[in-house]
Amino acid sequence: MDHTETLLDIQDLRVEFPISIGTVRAVQGVSLTLKRGEVMGLVGESGCGKSTLGFSLLRLLRPPGRIASGRILYHGRDIVAMEEKELLAVRGTGIAMIFQDPLTSLNPLMSISEHFVETLRTHEKGISRHDALERAGGMLESLGIGTNRLHEYPHQMSGGMRQRIMIGLALIMKPDLLVADEPTTALDVIVEAQFLDLLQTLRESLNLAIILITHNLGNVAQLSDRITVMYGGTIAEVAPAQALFDEPLHPYTQGLLASIPNIRLEQPRLHTMPGSTPDLVDPPSGCIFHPRCGRAMDICSRQRPPAFLRNGHEVSCWLYGDAP
Ligand SMILES: Nc1ncnc2c1ncn2[C@@H]1O[C@H](COP(=O)(O)OP(=O)(O)O)[C@@H](O)[C@H]1O
Ligand code: SF4
Ligand SMILES: [Mg+2]
Repeated sequence: MDHTETLLDIQDLRVEFPISIGTVRAVQGVSLTLKRGEVMGLVGESGCGKSTLGFSLLRLLRPPGRIASGRILYHGRDIVAMEEKELLAVRGTGIAMIFQDPLTSLNPLMSISEHFVETLRTHEKGISRHDALERAGGMLESLGIGTNRLHEYPHQMSGGMRQRIMIGLALIMKPDLLVADEPTTALDVIVEAQFLDLLQTLRESLNLAIILITHNLGNVAQLSDRITVMYGGTIAEVAPAQALFDEPLHPYTQGLLASIPNIRLEQPRLHTMPGSTPDLVDPPSGCIFHPRCGRAMDICSRQRPPAFLRNGHEVSCWLYGDAP
């Protein structure tokens, strides 16, 4: 797998939602890179900005969301500054996105084959129906679905099967990046495991980079090369998956890991973190985690920690470096 080429380079991204009571600072200066074929798990409690970051990558923010500043370099081209025409090409064939609930994304009045034909024709104007169906059939086979099901409608399929169809539609134009936002939340545990296996197979056969967004750290452990932990619109820690589990450095990551049952066997019971997630309209000063942090120091409420490098982790915490 070629892990050397940078596919995505997010630089100091800020995203906000101006609302009546103020401005929700959903993403507050996030920098992150992704290599070709790399799988990045993006985790954090609900409301920490994961989906906002995901939608920003395709400039598909729900109103009134806007990218306030920063750059998103995809193959070196800035998505933030891109003209509509180029952006549409990226959306169709470069970066694909799937969501939690495939039923809302599939049209109940269209058969599976019609979904594929429509998707292919949007991006390859001249493609014949015959060729489109052939491509769709090939895709279904690689997803472990019989081609006889091409003529079925979404309601005739199980949730797991529909999620596979969504993946197929997302990948039919051979993108090199898939953003999957909580793709298994609606699935039961067995189907979820099968789905994660499928993602693993696809990333290998297609050299596909994946950003796998989830609130469940346990989910991403197997599949991810690296894991990014977000808190309150900022990145707390980025580390190779195994290193993050073996030696979480950021106090928030430590709390998150301790709250997962069974993942660390020495944890006999479920811990929960005290306090609640921050108000992103009026976020705490300094380190956004400081009101909940058991190790907070004087500087923590005064100055936002930069990312320090420690044992291969990038960790935004004053425990790992001094103010410049
Ligand atoms: N359309 C919107 N309008 C106003 N605020 C929003 C909107 N979408 C998200 N937010 C706010 O942005 C923050 C981050 O949300 P989100 O990215 O959905 O988090 P996550 O995916 O991690 O649960 C939250 O405070 C949320 O309330
Ligand atoms: S910077 Fe301070 S408050 Fe923030 S996580 Fe580190 S020790 Fe805790
Ligand atoms: Mg979300």
